Amino acid sequence: MTNLLEHVQYGHLLPAAHGLIAEHAKQTKAHLLATGSAMEALAKKFGGDAQTWRVAGMLHDLDWDMLEKDYEKHCGEPLEKLLATIQAPQELLGDIRAHYASKYGAAYPLDSMLRKCLYCVDELTGFIIAVTLVRPSKKIADVEVSSVKKKMKDKGFAAQVDREQIKQCETLLNIPLDEFIDVTIQAMKAVANDLNL
Ligand SMILES: [Fe+2]
Repeated sequence: MTNLLEHVQYGHLLPAAHGLIAEHAKQTKAHLLATGSAMEALAKKFGGDAQTWRVAGMLHDLDWDMLEKDYEKHCGEPLEKLLATIQAPQELLGDIRAHYASKYGAAYPLDSMLRKCLYCVDELTGFIIAVTLVRPSKKIADVEVSSVKKKMKDKGFAAQVDREQIKQCETLLNIPLDEFIDVTIQAMKAVANDLNL
């Protein structure tokens, strides 16, 4: 059996990842920083390389602002070109493409813990930001696991977020949904200032 934690490491790209976000992802910045922090926490939980996982989380939607709603192009050539500017290894492009499983799943399967976590947590960080923004304070400090679960059951709330993808933490990561949400909220609270939440 392959080791799901075996992985090319690219944590040295962390400063470059911050630079790319500052330059190219002004609208998506909070989602990217939240996902980076969550991925770092998940790496610590599962025994992955924390900085590598964080970089993958930070850059997974780097091209989002420039797509101009043409989501078919997500994770395509423009992203590849941006990653080339920081001499990113092919592994990082693959890890990012794997999270767009409906398009790239065959070429880049969810065959590592990093990829499985990124796939599940991507939808969750977006959802938690949406939950935060409807709190009276608009502060992540006021968001609890129970508030997130309640909103997940409300199908009309943030309807574009795929609840099933989040719930796959139970099969893909083998952790209960409550725990997955808790780890992610705590990771986001730790960088609340950077998220402006
Ligand atoms: Fe995302």
